Amino acid sequence: MRVDVVSIFPEYLAPLRLSLLGRAQEGGLLDLEVHDLRDFAFDRHRTVDDTPYGGGAGMVMKAEPWALALESVLAELAELAAQTPAADLPTLIVPSPAGEVFTQRLAYELAEEPSLTFACGRYEGIDERVLEWARGHFRVRPVSLGDYVLNGGEVAVMAMVEAIGRLLPGVVGNPESLVEESHADGLLEYPVYTKPSSWRGHDVPEVLLSGNHGLIARWRREQQLRRTAARRPELLEGADPSEFGREERAV
Ligand code: ADE
Repeated sequence: MRVDVVSIFPEYLAPLRLSLLGRAQEGGLLDLEVHDLRDFAFDRHRTVDDTPYGGGAGMVMKAEPWALALESVLAELAELAAQTPAADLPTLIVPSPAGEVFTQRLAYELAEEPSLTFACGRYEGIDERVLEWARGHFRVRPVSLGDYVLNGGEVAVMAMVEAIGRLLPGVVGNPESLVEESHADGLLEYPVYTKPSSWRGHDVPEVLLSGNHGLIARWRREQQLRRTAARRPELLEGADPSEFGREERAV
């Protein structure tokens, strides 16, 4: 997958070169290109922001540097498309607390794309006309990490690229670990333990030492349901209550 990120703080994205995603880049599974928005601002001070029309606090990101930066990304994507035919418009993700919420489901969906472009806003946001213009060239998706406000899109992009990147084929060594984790099946993950079996007076649940794989699977499922009911009850809405009852009775 090709990922382009446009930001006024390219260094912010440096951690994406580490660990699992770093290896994915070395292995050619992920091509991550970070672009400095200021390279597309041509006045003496390389200005990327200005005061908002209508007044109010803070500054708004100017349209023209964004259009030039995104046109430059589009030109690079078009060159790549000469090698890998891309059917649809490329996807542009605009991190914003006013976007649709990023979920594991969306991570799976975006992991299918041949390329993703991320536009990191700062200050009070990007001039809305950039999004209007971009809709002619990209499939534009404003996406929020959650109901809180960050200082800019960079941290949100780090979270999204990590969540999406680990789903690309070959990035996680053992694909089983993607199946067994929180949200993979809409529930929270069961608790995990390692040696020693008794530690500072806390014991590993007996069933996990039993070697009975059927019982262990049932116990884990029940723990998932209990945890989800306690911590994130809204995730169980629409779940089959008979299954919940069955699992509760089974263990
Ligand atoms: N930028 C500022 N806050 C954000 C959030 N919650 N999600 C995504 N991008 C943001």
